[in-house]
Amino acid sequence: MFISFEGIDGCGKSTQSRHLAERLGSRGQPVVWTREPGGSPGAEEIRRLLVEGAPGRWSAETELLLFTAARRDHLERLIDPALARGDWVITDRFADSTRVYQGATRGDLRATVDRLHSLMIGREPDLTLVLDVDPEAALSRGLARRSGEDRFEDFGLPFQHKLRAGFRALARDLPGRVHLIDGSGTPEDVAARVDAILAVHGAEA
Ligand code: TYD
Repeated sequence: MFISFEGIDGCGKSTQSRHLAERLGSRGQPVVWTREPGGSPGAEEIRRLLVEGAPGRWSAETELLLFTAARRDHLERLIDPALARGDWVITDRFADSTRVYQGATRGDLRATVDRLHSLMIGREPDLTLVLDVDPEAALSRGLARRSGEDRFEDFGLPFQHKLRAGFRALARDLPGRVHLIDGSGTPEDVAARVDAILAVHGAEA
């Protein structure tokens, strides 16, 4: 299984994706946890170009190329070999982030995003879990961390509202693969909702 977690900045997907990988691992399932942008040494170098610095540093078009370059390296070096071994791969973000962040919210690039994806990536997760949370709460959580990787948080609240709408639209358009999960409540509450979706897909942790 190849499972991605998605959502707006600060939605809790990093915590949930790690918890899921731990639960699967402790039940004896070989599993690789990874993240984007990054996940391989080359892609982690590209990540720094993307998440640090001024919001206007790159155009949406340049960003799309950089994210896709990072994803291609991640896929070649880590995701494809892991799936070929029979491991499960849990990733904190994948191509749906590009569809929503670059494709729908920063310029109307969705058709270009989809073309580049089929040319250079060509793989979709088996299951995508979108953690749906209130942008006000998520943004204050994210900025409170002030990780030095706040370039996207610095686009502000209206941007996060657009992102939330973009992820919801994706779940509506691709109901077989993309599932919306209520991200409110305690981490345990959210993990129980994650498990419920996985159980429906025969993939319970
Ligand atoms: P991430 O480390 O997941 O940040 P966070 O923990 O705040 O969610 O991702 C860094 C930023 O990169 C995040 O704001 C989303 C953005 N991003 C895109 O714009 N396009 C993409 O394709 C990906 C993978 C991430």
